[in-house]
Amino acid sequence: MTAILTPLHLVSAASGALALCLWFYTRLQDRLPPGVRGLRCLFEIPSEKAWVKSLKFNRQHGDIACGSFLGYHIIVVGSAKIAEDLLDKRSVNYSDRPRSVMCGELSGWGKIMLLSNYNSWFRAHRKWLAQDIGSYATVTKLHRMIEFETQRYLRCMLDDPERAQAHVRKNLTSIILRLSHGYVTQEGEDPLVELAHTANSQLSLTTAPGAYYADLVPLMKYIPSWLPGAGFKRKAKEYAAVLNDMVEIPHNYVKSQLAAGTALPSLSSRILSKPDLTEELEDSVKWATATMYQGGADTANSVAFAFYLAMILHPRVMKAAQEELDTVVGKNRLPTFADRQSLPYIEALFTELLRWHTPGPMTLRCTREDDTYNGYFIPAGSYVFVNIWGILRDERTYKNPLEFRPERFLGENPETHPGNACFGFGRRKCPGYFLGHSSVWLMCAQVLAAFDISKCIENGVEITPEHDLVGETIVHQAPFKCSIKPRSAEVEALIRQEISLEQ
Ligand code: HEM
Repeated sequence: MTAILTPLHLVSAASGALALCLWFYTRLQDRLPPGVRGLRCLFEIPSEKAWVKSLKFNRQHGDIACGSFLGYHIIVVGSAKIAEDLLDKRSVNYSDRPRSVMCGELSGWGKIMLLSNYNSWFRAHRKWLAQDIGSYATVTKLHRMIEFETQRYLRCMLDDPERAQAHVRKNLTSIILRLSHGYVTQEGEDPLVELAHTANSQLSLTTAPGAYYADLVPLMKYIPSWLPGAGFKRKAKEYAAVLNDMVEIPHNYVKSQLAAGTALPSLSSRILSKPDLTEELEDSVKWATATMYQGGADTANSVAFAFYLAMILHPRVMKAAQEELDTVVGKNRLPTFADRQSLPYIEALFTELLRWHTPGPMTLRCTREDDTYNGYFIPAGSYVFVNIWGILRDERTYKNPLEFRPERFLGENPETHPGNACFGFGRRKCPGYFLGHSSVWLMCAQVLAAFDISKCIENGVEITPEHDLVGETIVHQAPFKCSIKPRSAEVEALIRQEISLEQ
């Protein structure tokens, strides 16, 4: 028997399919975490300081909230427990980054670890970094070099305290460049330090949530650059040129040093000297070392500069820390890593610094597969934002979270250590954790032993700066002035003493 399809059959089949789709769509919307749907979502996209708006969003809708528009689902996580449940415990599904048209594709940053997906390229780079800086044991071998570079830094602070932020940047980038490329930064301004700073500022701007429509409408990347409204393409070209320098210049430096037989040990020289080096391997190590140089050049600096602000806003804390140093280390030498265990107050101060100022206020992932959490549906391809900044200011975890109070980490019942949240989560947790944890700690301890830091006085008026963050993906304290003076003539002499890299 042959069925005859009449127009009526077709109309009812189409209506049935439409009704089914609508039913599925409504069910899906019902099962998404609470939040905002449809056009209203556009008003929730922050133009800047996404972490502040996300905190409000979570307060309004709960610790897991969702904005959903035109098939995009943005999940905003505002509690450490949920971040750990998803990003740590279900890391296979939560370790990709979302497609990034402006930064990853047009500006060329896609091969840097921060933007790369969780794939074999990414895993090889993580492995190399883990071999060199992935544990306390590996970083302990670097202590002497870090102490050497930190003393260079103290000398710069002594000679030119006005440029504190530039010196901080140079100290931490110098440490990283030795490890990534065996490059020793020159005295005064160094071109590679400045280059990383420029590239990182551009990275931060191009990855800011909602900054470029091309990330929402990827087809825009094909618009010719000369068309009005295609300014983003011209910007991307400019950024790509800076990135190219950041990747190629140090790489070529190592190659020339290897050829001359003068290369210092580094991740780059270790891989480039392999007898079975292929073009593919060379390309891979070029980007892995650029990742190390770029990743370490900005985040640690951000924390280290915020330390100065914390000290001028909280002189009580500075005095207590200096008293501990004077008692335990004395005034005849500067503290070293060997003293770390004996300085609990400095440790608590450093821990509080990591909680109080986080250089990466939000982390962003993209789900690979559909997931269900606490009865909520999280579709594949959802953008998952974790508000690290908000988690570290959560009143349920930290008493009076806006206060800078190292004591919260001392005594019988210390509050939750911020180390997990502030370095990110799961398989993408910061690979520079141990290095950042060591180099910034030493800088804080030695600066406290060497200098008094206080507010600036201008025209008889004391200037009190605010804790104000600039940048988007990576943030920094806005520049501010302060007074940095050596604590004594003796300490000045200690700083000027030559130390050698040898033990
Ligand atoms: C106090 C210092 C530092 C802090 C607070 C910090 C914080 C962070 C955070 C929050 C992330 C995002 C992780 C995530 O997505 O879950 C991250 C990623 C990263 N950090 Fe750090 N970081 C610091 C120092 C360093 C250093 C010294 C390096 C040098 C190697 C480094 C290299 C990286 C890289 C390459 C990534 C990207 C990882 C990925 O996407 O898988 N960081 N860092």
